[in-house]
Amino acid sequence: MRNKYVMANFKMNKSDSEVEEYLKTFLPLVEGNETKIILSIPFTSLKTAIEKTKKSNVMIAAQNMNENEKGAYTGEVSADMLSGLGVDAVIVGHSERRSNFNETDELVNKKILRGLKSGLICIFCVGETMYERKNQMTEQVLVRQITEGLKSVYANELKNIIIAYEPVWAIGTGVTPMDVEIVETVKVIRNILTSMYDEKIAKDVIITYGGSINEVNCKEIGKFEGLDGALIGGASLMPEKFAKIVSAFKPKACRKKKD
Ligand code: PGA
Repeated sequence: MRNKYVMANFKMNKSDSEVEEYLKTFLPLVEGNETKIILSIPFTSLKTAIEKTKKSNVMIAAQNMNENEKGAYTGEVSADMLSGLGVDAVIVGHSERRSNFNETDELVNKKILRGLKSGLICIFCVGETMYERKNQMTEQVLVRQITEGLKSVYANELKNIIIAYEPVWAIGTGVTPMDVEIVETVKVIRNILTSMYDEKIAKDVIITYGGSINEVNCKEIGKFEGLDGALIGGASLMPEKFAKIVSAFKPKACRKKKD
């Protein structure tokens, strides 16, 4: 059975002391929760967050890394630097990096291969624009992003890949896709993985959704068939709100019967 993952993406928000304050409130709220929780925070607070979450059930992710092992790349951070610090995961291929920093599928693939090599879980973001959805290009876009992004990734490495389906038009807009759109797209992603690997392997891959999830709509989204969790931006910045979202994604075994 696949685990549930609820992941925060702070983006370029919160100073080191603000992250520390956040954790003081957040950690007691999620203590003992069996859902996997990952906080993707700015580089400047990684060390603090790793120290403060050491004895907790919360994992820490970076929001980016460089694809090269090391060298003359002023201002960049390598995968080994992150794993050496104790970082668990890294976001790769977020649409804000694809559009604002011209990150291509090829670059995303290099980052994934480098991240996996350094023992990081890669939170691999994919998703179509509104234009692409309206023109029935969603599947075509996902096939390209996933086959390119996971090129040369072995089946046994997929346990360290979390696919975050994030339609670009839903990120930070307050608009979420209809339930069938999310459920159907998750199926499409699993079919793409089946054709790249096989059904048994594809069945075990974690696939989450992200885009305008909040403490209200999470109650519905948390129950969607085949969905293994969520990646949350804006609503993850408030510890109380984010804790509510975490509790909407219960691991199956913990669900009450009437759910
Ligand atoms: P949002 O962002 O929840 O603010 O829409 C999601 C994301 O960018 O991962």
